[in-house]
Amino acid sequence: MSLIGMHKTELDTPALLVDLDKMESNIQTMADYFKTVNTELRPHVKTHKTPLLSHKQIAAGAIGVTCAKLGEAEAVIHAGIRDVLVANQIIGTQKIARLVNLAKQSDIMVAVDNAQNVTDISAAARAKGVTVRMLIEVNTGMNRCGVEPGQPTLELARHILRASHLKFEGLMGYEGHTVAKPNYAERDAAARHSVQLLVDAKHYLEKQSIAVPIMSGGGTGTFNITGSIPEMTEVQAGSYIFMDATYRNVEGVGEHFQCALTVLATVVSRPAPDRVIVDTGMKVLAKEFGMPQPVGMNGLEMVGLSEEHGKMNADASVSLTPGDKLEILPTHCCTTVNLHDRYCGIRDGIVESVWDITARGKAQ
Ligand SMILES: Cc1ncc(COP(=O)(O)O)c(C=O)c1O
Repeated sequence: MSLIGMHKTELDTPALLVDLDKMESNIQTMADYFKTVNTELRPHVKTHKTPLLSHKQIAAGAIGVTCAKLGEAEAVIHAGIRDVLVANQIIGTQKIARLVNLAKQSDIMVAVDNAQNVTDISAAARAKGVTVRMLIEVNTGMNRCGVEPGQPTLELARHILRASHLKFEGLMGYEGHTVAKPNYAERDAAARHSVQLLVDAKHYLEKQSIAVPIMSGGGTGTFNITGSIPEMTEVQAGSYIFMDATYRNVEGVGEHFQCALTVLATVVSRPAPDRVIVDTGMKVLAKEFGMPQPVGMNGLEMVGLSEEHGKMNADASVSLTPGDKLEILPTHCCTTVNLHDRYCGIRDGIVESVWDITARGKAQ
């Protein structure tokens, strides 16, 4: 049965809803910001996992996309996108074979932080007859992946430049430890400190006559901090397209973007006046950033998620009974999307589009 034309409250639940006006406004707001600076936008696919939405971001001005996983890269490249950064280490024979295969069909770039991995990708690229573009991931304080700035970065750059069938394109550093700091001044200081390490690494390489054309980093929380640093060439923001209850509270981000993503829930039980149970548990709503929030309802608070149940505390003023529907705002849009097969795109309360989330679950 086609869902197009239905009112959103007629949809069966749980259902993932996207407010199209808000999403389009977010895409435009971010694109407009990047028209005012020299830095470009390379939106992250890990948030929406849907090539169609990458195409909308590119149509608004983005230069290409960022992916976390090869499975996401395959989805967007098969949908015709060429300029793709895999901002992750691609390790192991099977994955490297998939990477060089994609290099036949696109201008794929990959992050590296290890000399043996560089050697392995070079050998596979030579055997396949392709050139793979590389960014060195530098640890700028998040202490996740990445080589240290300075001499270790220089040695890895030299290793890439010596190897065949590789093109050294520059540096990447993700200041993920700073992006969700709610206070703008604190976030600004922490992000600038972090990005400066990447800028220093670039200058260190340039002193040895190694050109660093690409400088990639940033996220939704630092789009206009990292995006305004002259040495940076691109920003990898993802969540801005949908936003969530966490980023909404980040000063300087929540004001610019609107929460476009909700999960429609049905009340399945009102076992007590102070308790409402809905059919949206942790299999449709992520909870690692805290409890999702009912939208537009006073006196109602989500206090627990089990696999298939959401448990809410309710005031006496809350009149919900079984069969009633309400929308729940996720606290983490990226991991919530990954739990669903499709979006229902809503405009003026009506389903306008139904989109498959083609790269959901593509963890390999
Ligand atoms: C490598 C990388 N770049 C950018 C981002 C930014 O994502 P977001 O804009 O959703 O915070 C992330 C988030 O996890 C990331 O891991």
